[in-house]
Amino acid sequence: MASVSFFLPSMKNLLVFIFFCVYVESSDHKKTNDGVVINVTKHFFFPDFNTPRTVHDLMLLGSSVVDKTGRIQIPDTTQNDVDLKHLVGRAVYAYPVRVFDPITRTPASFQTTFSFQIETTRTNLSFADRNVSGDGNDGGDGGSGFTFIIAPDEFTVGRPGPWLGMLNDACDEQYKTVGIEFDTIENAKFGDPNDNHLGINLGSIVSTITINVSEFGINLKDGEIHRAWIDYHGQNHFLEIRLGSDRLDYPSKAVFSGRLDISDFLKEYMFVGFSASTGNFTQIHNVLSWNFTSSSQASLRVPSPETCESKIIIDDGNGGGGRGGNNLNSFFIFMTVVFLVVVALVSLYYNRKRITGEKARELAMLSAVKERPRPPNKPRRFTISEVSAATRCFDELHKVTCDERSDTYRGTLLNGCHVAVKRFSVEYFKSHGINRRRVGKEIKAMSKLRHPNLVAIRGWCFDHQETMVVYDYVQNGTFHDWLYGIGVLPWSRRLKVVRDVAQALSYLHSQKLAHKNVNTSSVFIDVSFRALLGDFGFVMSGTESSRFEATVSQPTDVFAFGVLVLEVVAGRKRYRSESDPESNRSDLDLLEWAWSMHEMNEKEKVVDVKIGSVLNMDQAVRVMDIGLLCTLKENQGRPSMAEVVEYVCFETEVPELPLRRPMALFPYTSTTALCTNSYMCASFK
Ligand SMILES: *[C@@H]1O[C@H](CO)[C@@H](O)[C@H](O)[C@H]1NC(C)=O
Ligand SMILES: *[C@@H]1O[C@H](CO)[C@@H](O)[C@H](O)[C@H]1NC(C)=O
Ligand SMILES: *[C@@H]1O[C@H](CO)[C@@H](O)[C@H](O)[C@H]1NC(C)=O
Ligand SMILES: *[C@@H]1O[C@H](CO)[C@@H](O)[C@H](O)[C@H]1NC(C)=O
Ligand SMILES: *[C@@H]1O[C@H](CO)[C@@H](O)[C@H](O)[C@H]1NC(C)=O
Ligand SMILES: *[C@@H]1O[C@H](CO)[C@@H](O)[C@H](O)[C@H]1NC(C)=O
Repeated sequence: MASVSFFLPSMKNLLVFIFFCVYVESSDHKKTNDGVVINVTKHFFFPDFNTPRTVHDLMLLGSSVVDKTGRIQIPDTTQNDVDLKHLVGRAVYAYPVRVFDPITRTPASFQTTFSFQIETTRTNLSFADRNVSGDGNDGGDGGSGFTFIIAPDEFTVGRPGPWLGMLNDACDEQYKTVGIEFDTIENAKFGDPNDNHLGINLGSIVSTITINVSEFGINLKDGEIHRAWIDYHGQNHFLEIRLGSDRLDYPSKAVFSGRLDISDFLKEYMFVGFSASTGNFTQIHNVLSWNFTSSSQASLRVPSPETCESKIIIDDGNGGGGRGGNNLNSFFIFMTVVFLVVVALVSLYYNRKRITGEKARELAMLSAVKERPRPPNKPRRFTISEVSAATRCFDELHKVTCDERSDTYRGTLLNGCHVAVKRFSVEYFKSHGINRRRVGKEIKAMSKLRHPNLVAIRGWCFDHQETMVVYDYVQNGTFHDWLYGIGVLPWSRRLKVVRDVAQALSYLHSQKLAHKNVNTSSVFIDVSFRALLGDFGFVMSGTESSRFEATVSQPTDVFAFGVLVLEVVAGRKRYRSESDPESNRSDLDLLEWAWSMHEMNEKEKVVDVKIGSVLNMDQAVRVMDIGLLCTLKENQGRPSMAEVVEYVCFETEVPELPLRRPMALFPYTSTTALCTNSYMCASFK
């Protein structure tokens, strides 16, 4: 404002000032934006993968390996005695490739060609004397297929089986991927046409386009070496895929050729490579050579000088010659903008002179309130209209979960942040005499916490009798989906989840707070497979003081953690429904069962058989001991979370468990009785 009023007395001065700004700006424009669109290209070629360079340039994830003959092999067959079922691996180029220009929203153009071979169990596998078909009832028909993948990171491996290691059932649309799949299993659930097809997958395992390659005389599973050529033209959004034999020339006919906009599934930098998996059926996917070239346009980014004056000073030295005609457009646009801004400032100046002092102060206060910068992630109050807008009026389609106490919705705030909104049931609060004020206080206390293994609370909404908590959205779904969904979670991941949750609870307890809702559904998995504890219990009935409540709730958290650990080790829920074909009456309660197996010294029986041979049995039993320890009565050895962290990180020996189980185990389940006094007292005794 000061500079404007300085110039106001003389309109002539002002115009000169504008002219200078425009003059300088447009010549600056020339320097930075003219001819500064540059081509970002990337090229690499692996004639085979045996070069020493491969070690640095290729990231092998999961069950993938470069074999002696220099092929990428998924799954890894070099280790002996590994069951090849339900394995998944990825091999990606280790450095990110620019595949998208966010300014113009144009995908990069890329060409890639690779030769590959799919060996089914019937073929004479070069790793000779292994009994690959295992129990021999495979049918030997191979499975599941592999994809050329463009993935957002270099550490995620998707699900095995029909997911081809590309995605997993828990990923949402945030996890951007593009895949070209070479699928050798017909999976009706995913809309596959047959067991010999090519699919184009955009952010989903359900192919957008499928091509029956039998029609081109190609059999992916014939054990021959095939070659694929994928050619994408970013500006025209044109994709062409050719498939042929490695020995023959470039096929004249493309198996797919057409317009396809993949922009929505790209980030600026992504990783390219291959992903493959086996399921109930096994086969080996080999990639023998790979050629990749990409090119995208980018405009050079340089910091802009801050003020008009500084530009004048800079310009004095440089001179401003060589303004070309092609700059005329931007020159006029810029001039118009500057003119409009000055007009606005001038009119504001005169208006302010006219309004009364009081109003001016009001105005100043208003703008001060508006302009006060807010730390971006500071938790805050949300209005009901904000939350409603974020969740499209609590649309059923946005509902993620619901139970008797609450509904949870996925939403997007105006600033684009993805959130999960938990809306507590007003009726439930009323009928259980829950004190909303107390819940509100607890939400606010909890929202101050920041820990890598806790889901951050973005805010709350207490308008109109409503009680809602706004959480950060964690992209990879709940641990429950991972543990009990299709596919088998490897032991290393299970152990990591146990450790992450232990860290989170230990931190929470150190802050004199308790979670009160520890179970597999309140643990979330992010894209890097870190476990985050969220979905706090909050709701407590009764009249006890917060302090008393914390002392009661913390040991309850430990107990619930113990149950969670047992579920992780056993790969099953605590209570098996009687209709479950695998259940027999004796093992309905996992906790009872685990203790009785402990008494009989047969704890290995509890460990999830599905994990198979990639399991570290010693670790699993040790972790199970920790789980059992947590379910002891408080005065009989139930540890604190701080101690548990030391145990699960194998820093301290786990204390000996009593030989016999405790007399009676608490009637605790993870879905009910979270907030009743009887439950609290039961665990407190
Ligand atoms: C960038 O690439 C485009 C298309 O591939 C080409 O027409 C243009 O000449 C290239 N520009 C430079 C500076 O290499
Ligand atoms: C399988 O191939 C190996 C060489 O790769 C050969 O020595 C062996 O005899 C073959 N076995 C059968 C059963 O064909
Ligand atoms: C493969 O394993 C099955 C079952 O374990 C066994 O019956 C069969 O003889 C084995 N085959 C070979 C070639 O070792
Ligand atoms: C795929 O193509 C083959 C050969 O043309 C044909 O026999 C088969 O029926 C096709 N499958 C489907 C599902 O269209
Ligand atoms: C794998 O085999 C098991 C047992 O035979 C069966 O229950 C399961 O449904 C199969 N999974 C798939 C994806 O076919
Ligand atoms: C790999 O790509 C480069 C550039 O596109 C090309 O010159 C070369 O011939 C390709 N090599 C193979 C084996 O396709």
